[in-house]
Amino acid sequence: MIVLGIESTAHTFGVSIIDYDKKKVLSNIIKGFTTKSGGMIPAKVADHHVENCDSVISQAITKAKIKESNIELISFSQGPGIGHSLRIGAFAARTLSIKYDIPLIGVNHCIAHLEIGRALTKATDPVLLYVSGANTQVIAYDGGKYRVFGETLDIGVGNFLDSFARFVGLGFPGGPKIYELSLKSKNYIELPYTVKGMDVSFGGLLTHLKKLYKSEKYKLEDLCYSLQETVFAMLLEVSERALAHTDKKELILGGGVACNLRLQEMSDKMCKDRDAKCFVLENRYNLDNAAMIALLGAMMYKEGRIRQNIKDTEIHPYERTDDVNVTWRK
Ligand code: ATP
Ligand code: FE2
Repeated sequence: MIVLGIESTAHTFGVSIIDYDKKKVLSNIIKGFTTKSGGMIPAKVADHHVENCDSVISQAITKAKIKESNIELISFSQGPGIGHSLRIGAFAARTLSIKYDIPLIGVNHCIAHLEIGRALTKATDPVLLYVSGANTQVIAYDGGKYRVFGETLDIGVGNFLDSFARFVGLGFPGGPKIYELSLKSKNYIELPYTVKGMDVSFGGLLTHLKKLYKSEKYKLEDLCYSLQETVFAMLLEVSERALAHTDKKELILGGGVACNLRLQEMSDKMCKDRDAKCFVLENRYNLDNAAMIALLGAMMYKEGRIRQNIKDTEIHPYERTDDVNVTWRK
């Protein structure tokens, strides 16, 4: 089954074509909104997606060496995400579906991160530490749903990194820049560590870091190093508890922050210490991508026998991971 997937939950507009039966990604084109300084304004991101939508779709089709008439399913990110961005992807998906008379299915973006992890690694029933711009969740399958075992109580860890980076003038996205600077330091500065039960919170830490930076008493690289050590330890404390609680033996990292090599190293160590296995995807499948959207659409359509009409395809900016009935897993 040839599936075209569209991703547009936030700053990335992506289109991918997969051959689901052969488990092959035929193309995976992403076009991301970036700025040299300052963050992302939803209306500007939407303009970016509108401007790039046609060319990304045609590039994906050309690269996959298929014709529109070969596509058997169109899948798109229905939520959660920024309304301005989601709407462009949904609109493009509906247009293609009507124009070429192809079935259409909307999917949950967070679950897509987990499913591509299962598809591309040997993990069968993992806990996912999903760490992206807007999202920070620890997710695992339990009783017919993907449940959120722990999450951020305020901002996503990626937004936390990006906000600090913007404050100190590093531009967007900030995660990679903070990582580069962190490599220059081994000097740990004590920072607030906020784990509440199974949840984490970054707002207070962000305010504190801004104060430390403004005081001009600390080197930026020391702050970058220390903030990474602190927030990654918080995330792994919660992930470890989710592994223990669910009695699962596999951890997958997903989301843009999963590209961070220090987080990967710390995750691997935590897993080894408790006889679990840590799986990390290639960066292009950690970051928002449309291959995972095409894949989840195919799983829901083929294994889960889910069908949607155009009227079911309104966007769900606030959809929760556990709102979705998982009909495609045995
Ligand atoms: P969502 O998936 O929640 O819709 P998003 O579009 O922001 O949000 P991603 O593309 O998965 O998500 O991730 C972007 C985030 O990843 C940004 O916050 C960016 O700073 C961060 N990031 C990217 N590379 C790295 C890295 N090497 N280290 C740390 N963070 C990184
Ligand atoms: Fe994501």
